[in-house]
Amino acid sequence: MLKRYIFCWVLPVTLGVPLIGQQHETNEISNATFINKVLTPKEIAQNAGYAAETYQVVTHDRYVLQLDRITGSKKSPPSNNKPAVLLLHGVLDCSATWLLDAKKGLGFILADQGYDVWMGNVRGNRYSRKHLDLSPSHSDFWMFSWHEMGIYDIPAMIDYITEQTEQEKIFMITHSQGGTAFFVMASERPEYQQKVTAAFALAPAVFMSRTKSPLFKALAPHANDINLITDLIGMYEFKASNKLIQMIGKKVCRDASILQPLCKNIIFLFAGFDEELNTSLLPLIPQYDPAGASVRQFVHYGQLIHSGMFRKFDYGFVGNIKKYGKKNPPDYNLGNVKLPVYLYYGTNDMFVDVQDLHQLYKSLPNAQKFLISDNFAHLDFVWGKHVDTWVYNKVLDLMKHYRK
Ligand SMILES: *[C@@H]1O[C@H](CO)[C@@H](O)[C@H](O)[C@H]1NC(C)=O
Ligand SMILES: *[C@@H]1O[C@H](CO)[C@@H](O)[C@H](O)[C@H]1NC(C)=O
Repeated sequence: MLKRYIFCWVLPVTLGVPLIGQQHETNEISNATFINKVLTPKEIAQNAGYAAETYQVVTHDRYVLQLDRITGSKKSPPSNNKPAVLLLHGVLDCSATWLLDAKKGLGFILADQGYDVWMGNVRGNRYSRKHLDLSPSHSDFWMFSWHEMGIYDIPAMIDYITEQTEQEKIFMITHSQGGTAFFVMASERPEYQQKVTAAFALAPAVFMSRTKSPLFKALAPHANDINLITDLIGMYEFKASNKLIQMIGKKVCRDASILQPLCKNIIFLFAGFDEELNTSLLPLIPQYDPAGASVRQFVHYGQLIHSGMFRKFDYGFVGNIKKYGKKNPPDYNLGNVKLPVYLYYGTNDMFVDVQDLHQLYKSLPNAQKFLISDNFAHLDFVWGKHVDTWVYNKVLDLMKHYRK
């Protein structure tokens, strides 16, 4: 008990403030590799010779989200009847993730294959820090986890895309937290499955009890302390600072001096050792990531790690009684997820464990799973050297099967 409270008060001073506070964006990683101007996702696509657009979408609870779109390329000029696909990024990431690799970026590959490519940005990331009434400097703005992304953000994106394209159904491809939010939507708002042809979930973070991510392992045992601290201090935005990176770096890399250069790297701390990652992208990644998140997203993941269940946010005994009418939060009903779902997972993924993925697979009525071996890790699903041949080509083959 005492230890818990010492931690509670030491944490905000040593870690909590730089971790959760209003740190400015550039840290030493991005500084070292800074390239004059950070291109927007639309500019990245246009510079690569693709036709691109940007839209703003308002959710039911009035968040303003940015959707980036590639309408065509030299190989496949824009036209009205291309099948639409929505790509949704992972935690601390943004829509640029699909375009960082000029050759193997999934956004480019899909556009060349004749798809109308839409790339979402969830609430709170660098492109979606907007609300019609609330400012991101106000704590009320950050009162969400990935639950709200599933309940509000994805439905708003799907409604917007189906209206714009006059298509009844779209494809969805998610990475990591994008999959978490997708499964929240499909179980809580199952009517939206009518608008999705099939979903391809790359390394979806759903059952989490076996996660080995250094960042999550370090934060998870204190998830509820962090929740308490944020309530006490009133800071709700998660920003990974140098101090946080150093703190976890010390914890994780203590005895492994060979890893020291890596330990300064948020990518390593988040996702572990990764030989498959395309290192040419390393100078680019810190320009976009970490792209912003609420503390609650991490607290909610921390709760999944503790409970071993895929369930709603735990507000504590009193809060749960008030919110849910019982002492524990209810589980998401994955039995509702009836549409075809394809799960892709990696042998070296520290964030999404193979056994946790199997648990998800067993909970879904209509799923198939594909293991990507050869040390494939969490971020390789967007930035891997072989992601095109090992993952995307398989996804494209299945998508073709649904195209008339
Ligand atoms: C960070 O960037 C600024 C501006 O380009 C430069 O003047 C400074 O020397 C850089 N600092 C480090 C530690 O690289
Ligand atoms: C790594 O990314 C760069 C930049 O997009 C790309 O040119 C290169 O082909 C990629 N390398 C591999 C091995 O995938």
